[in-house]
Amino acid sequence: MTPWIRKLHKWVGLIIALQFVMWTGSGLTMSLLDHERVEGHHHQTSHAHEPPKWPSGTLAPAQIVAAVKTPVQMIEATWLRERPVYRLTNKAAVWLVDARDGAPARVDAHVASAIAAADYRGDGRPGRPDWLSKANLEARGHSGPIWRVPFNDKDATTLYISALDGRILERRNDTWRIFDFVWMLHIMDYTGRENFNNPLVIMAASGGLWIALSGAWLLVTSFRLSEFVPARWRSARELTVFELGGAKLRSLEAHAGDTVYVAMARNGLQLPSNCGGGQSCGLCEVRVRGTAPAPTSADRDHLKGSRIQIGHRLACNLAVDQDMQIEVSGGANLWTERVAKVEEVTAVTPFLREIVLVPETAPGPEFQPGSYLQVHVPSYTVQRHELEPPAHHREDWATLDLPETLANKEAVRRSYSLALPVEKANGRLTLLARFSPGRPHKKRLPTGKGSTYLYSLSPGDIVRFSGAFGDFAVKPGEREKIFIGGGAGMAPLRAMIHVRLDAGARERIHFWYGARNLREAPYVAEITELAQQHPNFTWHLVLSEEAEHGAGLLKGLVHDATHEHLLRGHPDLQACEFYLCGPPAMLAATRKLLDKLGIPEDSIAFDDFKI
Ligand SMILES: Cc1cc2nc3c(=O)[nH]c(=O)nc-3n(C[C@H](O)[C@H](O)[C@H](O)COP(=O)(O)OP(=O)(O)OC[C@H]3O[C@@H](n4cnc5c(N)ncnc54)[C@H](O)[C@@H]3O)c2cc1C
Ligand code: FES
Repeated sequence: MTPWIRKLHKWVGLIIALQFVMWTGSGLTMSLLDHERVEGHHHQTSHAHEPPKWPSGTLAPAQIVAAVKTPVQMIEATWLRERPVYRLTNKAAVWLVDARDGAPARVDAHVASAIAAADYRGDGRPGRPDWLSKANLEARGHSGPIWRVPFNDKDATTLYISALDGRILERRNDTWRIFDFVWMLHIMDYTGRENFNNPLVIMAASGGLWIALSGAWLLVTSFRLSEFVPARWRSARELTVFELGGAKLRSLEAHAGDTVYVAMARNGLQLPSNCGGGQSCGLCEVRVRGTAPAPTSADRDHLKGSRIQIGHRLACNLAVDQDMQIEVSGGANLWTERVAKVEEVTAVTPFLREIVLVPETAPGPEFQPGSYLQVHVPSYTVQRHELEPPAHHREDWATLDLPETLANKEAVRRSYSLALPVEKANGRLTLLARFSPGRPHKKRLPTGKGSTYLYSLSPGDIVRFSGAFGDFAVKPGEREKIFIGGGAGMAPLRAMIHVRLDAGARERIHFWYGARNLREAPYVAEITELAQQHPNFTWHLVLSEEAEHGAGLLKGLVHDATHEHLLRGHPDLQACEFYLCGPPAMLAATRKLLDKLGIPEDSIAFDDFKI
């Protein structure tokens, strides 16, 4: 039930989100406005004084009633300014007669103005009264002709006086007008501003009630019972961990309700993760043996449909409710921390830095092009000057406005792909890291924890890591290969291209790489040379910033350019393999394009760095 409730919660929320903002905003405005000012009391004289004594010699009410020709239901003695009058009422009308002679007493403009002036307190003076044959929006709810008397004060005070009996009907001013406007937004009656039962407000309120109820349901279901019970009081479960499609690695004791990710970490098996179990990086993938629980939206967001079908799930979202068997890739790398020494750090572009590591133990066969290391980022404090770029990049860094001190308070792990085959690098591990500058200007967001750490390294420093992990790899065989990338996506694609060319590949290999400008494109000379040495390898640099376009460079977005110049006219796209890696927007656009071109899912391999 939860998935459809979540969906409906989301869509209903989207539809009435604006009204929610209006309700809260208008409610807040109304509660902030001074009620005395809204009512116009601050411009009203005090009426505490006694009314004048009723004069002698006036006609008796019975005489008045006998004299008028229409039936009278009620008669009241009152004053019209200094004039004693009787107020007569019947079903159809209200009128005044002079108490002394029974003559009709009219409320003309002069009288209305005098009544308004007598009621008013402040710097303003009454303007010429306007005759309204019926109530306008400000005097709504009253019947009969009305005098509107404006005052020239800064609150634009306006008094509404009944033209039938001289009563003050309303005292309006600019504070009331603001109140009235937000009241209209609040009750969603955009014409009369009175009807609290209009269909719009009923619909929106029903939607709001749905949001509140479904939100409460989703909140309750988002908790696991285990979160309320300490681990030692929960029953024990056995979690058996196998190599993917292979041998048993370990049997672990878990507590009912733990996630697989937590249970493994507690037993020293650390699955790859960039988000620390937050269901947002997609790296902690495992396969459930037997029947897997229904996939969650987080599983669907991060894992391919074909994998979900065969039982792959995110370990940080998979509860150990009963004894469970799972398969993981990575083997002993899950519990082994490795050590390497930094040999060289090179600023390849202003914000891409190559870091060459010499590992203490020789890398195994899992260190394939496309695989990544999990760098163990310690807590640290570094000074800005420790990240100092070379002189020719200083201008670019000056635009970042970094704080003097950059700190990371808790150890985390971050993934970095091999940027060169280890064999080609004589057993060294080559990384290419992009700097995550945060957002220095508006609300200062911290620089990336992992990338700042890597940028603080210098030759001789020790780095700890685990891995290699990952299944992004060149497939065996000689199908034509098309690599499309951008940003730090250069790292795995470069390593994969090198490994194929070094192996004497005969298939056609294309590399399309997008950068903003030539300055930000890494390894241009190296890859151009590869293209000159290998007739089956072509490469195209696509620049998105027009200013720097030079001869031979393509302009635009890399997926568009690849489509325009290669895919559109390709005789047999179905026979090709695609390898993608780059910024999220580029990756999404390229995958959408390939989908549109009918390229099957299993011909496309990609790595999503989420940066
Ligand atoms: C399989 C894989 C391979 C990868 N390979 C590479 C690679 O080869 N090269 C490479 O450069 N990267 C690679 N990455 C990405 C890398 O792992 C990191 O995600 C990347 O370096 C950013 O991490 P960070 O710790 O620097 O930034 P984080 O600390 O994770 O922050 C990320 C961004 O969020 C911002 N941020 C931080 N805190 C907040 C906050 N409170 N509110 C809002 N925003 C905030 C930061 O400013 C930063 O811009 C890979 C990722 C994966 C999954
Ligand atoms: S640990 Fe990041 S999604 Fe599971």
